[in-house]
Amino acid sequence: MMFHSPLARFFLAVCATTLPCSAQTSLHSYPERMQWSIDAGEMSYVIGVNDQKMLQTLYWGPKLASGAILPAAQMRPERASFDPPVATTPLEYAGWGGGLFLEPALKVDSPNGDRTLVLQYAEAHQAGDVLEITLRDATQPVAVHLFYQAFPQGVLARWSRIENLGKTPLRIEQAASATWNLPQAKGYEWSWLTGQWGGEWQLHSAPLLTGTQVLESRRGSTSHQTNPWFSVGRTDETTERSGPVWFGELGWSGNWRMTVEDTALDNVRITAGYNPFDFGYILDKGESLETPRFYAGYTQHGNGEASRILHRFQREAILPTHPDPKPRPIIYNSWEATEFDVNEAGQISLAEKAAKLGIERFVIDDGWFGERKNDHAGLGDWQVNRTKFPHGLKPVIDRVHSLGMDFGLWVEPEMVNPDSDLYRKHPDWVMSFPNRQRTEARNQLVLNLARPEVKEFVFGFLDKLVTENDIAFLKWDYNRNWSEPGWDGAPEPKEIYIRYTQNLYEILSRLRAKHPKLEIESCSGGGGRVDLGILRYTDEVWPSDNTDALDRLSIQDGFTHAYTPEVMVAWVTDTPNFLDKRSIPLQFRFLSAMQGALGVGGNLNHWSETEIDTSTRLIGFYKTVRTTVQHGQLYRLASPQPVDGQTGDASQVEYVAQDGSQAVVLAYLRSQRYGLPYPTIQLQGLDPAATYRIHALDSAKYKGEQTVQGSVLMGAGIHLSLAGDYDSTAVVLERLP
Ligand code: GLA
Repeated sequence: MMFHSPLARFFLAVCATTLPCSAQTSLHSYPERMQWSIDAGEMSYVIGVNDQKMLQTLYWGPKLASGAILPAAQMRPERASFDPPVATTPLEYAGWGGGLFLEPALKVDSPNGDRTLVLQYAEAHQAGDVLEITLRDATQPVAVHLFYQAFPQGVLARWSRIENLGKTPLRIEQAASATWNLPQAKGYEWSWLTGQWGGEWQLHSAPLLTGTQVLESRRGSTSHQTNPWFSVGRTDETTERSGPVWFGELGWSGNWRMTVEDTALDNVRITAGYNPFDFGYILDKGESLETPRFYAGYTQHGNGEASRILHRFQREAILPTHPDPKPRPIIYNSWEATEFDVNEAGQISLAEKAAKLGIERFVIDDGWFGERKNDHAGLGDWQVNRTKFPHGLKPVIDRVHSLGMDFGLWVEPEMVNPDSDLYRKHPDWVMSFPNRQRTEARNQLVLNLARPEVKEFVFGFLDKLVTENDIAFLKWDYNRNWSEPGWDGAPEPKEIYIRYTQNLYEILSRLRAKHPKLEIESCSGGGGRVDLGILRYTDEVWPSDNTDALDRLSIQDGFTHAYTPEVMVAWVTDTPNFLDKRSIPLQFRFLSAMQGALGVGGNLNHWSETEIDTSTRLIGFYKTVRTTVQHGQLYRLASPQPVDGQTGDASQVEYVAQDGSQAVVLAYLRSQRYGLPYPTIQLQGLDPAATYRIHALDSAKYKGEQTVQGSVLMGAGIHLSLAGDYDSTAVVLERLP
């Protein structure tokens, strides 16, 4: 359908599922007012064309009654000569021009030297469930297509496509996916995630004050440093359990920037897309550039519900297995146990021990290829090291299969060690500047995946590896950031920032299409490449190289604000932990790692009979609750961080199965203080009228009734006897018919 005339009458409603339209998504157009109203879950989003033909946000908040029409869009008048209308009107996608001093969504440089854009409404169009609104500049031959796609989980995806309608090349200097405008008000607070290697997913919250906050990566990939996620609440109202939350995340694994502005006039706007730092992209005649998806949602039910909306959305609309995710298998990986010292006999011996524990997937990590004895050599030479595996990988894979597990392999496809045959043959394949030192990190350089021949090499060796070996899973690693991002011979070398990531996605997509059973983990020295771009092609992520069970509680708490527990892999490793040198009891380590997709990474050759028995029992327990943990609704009952007046010593998470039939509580005590009893735990998300049978993992730690009504569990709560340091337990609730 194409609607050119503002007078045309049309009404469009799209139901994304068979459930009632009102509960899902809908799109209504009101042509006489030039308005579009989009419902997604419990949120409504309304945009309109104003008297200056510019597209502006009219509303983003709780769902409006069906048929509700808002006042016509109006460009705000000039408030003072210093506050021009383009800067005070909440525009959907502002070009730099007309006096805009805020963050523009788009900035171009055209051949005649005109660097401004004033984007005005041209037409609207709907294809399937996607609304497309086209804006055009009044003078320059530039069209911007804005896309809106609502998802029933309560998320709206927005992105843009910039098109050169002229005859001469156009240079894009800055291109965002979208700007989200919040209701004009004071008193917001916002949350964001930062980190570093070994300490990702640190959650921060602060009042949003007048000024600009920038979250970004200039590192070539998503980064450990900060993640492209935001959440905004109201200082006096929003908590984990209640109050309004506007939240969103950008789906892009290259350089990105998210700018959060709170203007002197209390306009709050969040713009994200390609990072304009060192950016350049040339559009030849007729060419277009598409920007990444910028997803956002709204809830009135606090930060917990905002996370649950994102989790559901990721499982049902983003992950490669959507809309029917299957449970993640329990992995064994010997990286912490053996590091590079992998060989046929050693890996088979570990596989035999892992199988006895109930492990389902055995993964060989770094060290199996080329001359890889340590991190100085071998990356790029993806042939099996015949000293370590004289008969190739087949004997190990066969043994792993005969033990009832499937097999996975570590790769780091985008990297090369200078000490490798690949680099000796193709030194020009790495990103570099002429006559400049190539800065190494972990003794490695980054291949320029933007180059077509490098892309084909990477796809080719991975395809061969997976075709020739029965590999169910690749752990795809990426262990450094960029330096010298040069691209010799390219017409616009700065396009490397986009074309590299596009090619990465293309390789992943082709590989999955050719090997439909293959699963992939996104790892980047831990959680350096986790975002909704890479998660369209990968089944799980490695949130951190930090496997200390205490640090992991905080890391995982932060992680779940933005991403589903289903993709959050955690291993139980040895004590003392390699990073913090802390020794934590085995059950605590297991219950910490059970918050998402459980794995084991300790040296099983050194585990005692008692440790093996405990592990076997806990892995068996995990299998009884795994679907609820991975695909259920997560309630962060008490944070491991010192927030809301709590010390963080006593923390718990609860998961409720999608059909409500099961709930699981994982409870931790870091340190008991002053002899005080463990706090009462009030559960959430249960059916108040239903009765639940309680199964305690440790009968000594739960002395309550065996059957309890939901309203009692949520009101009076349950009491657990956790004491001392690093105590932990779990309680499972089965809803009785
Ligand atoms: C990265 C990963 C680790 C491990 C090593 C191997 O650091 O995050 O899990 O695979 O590389 O070199």
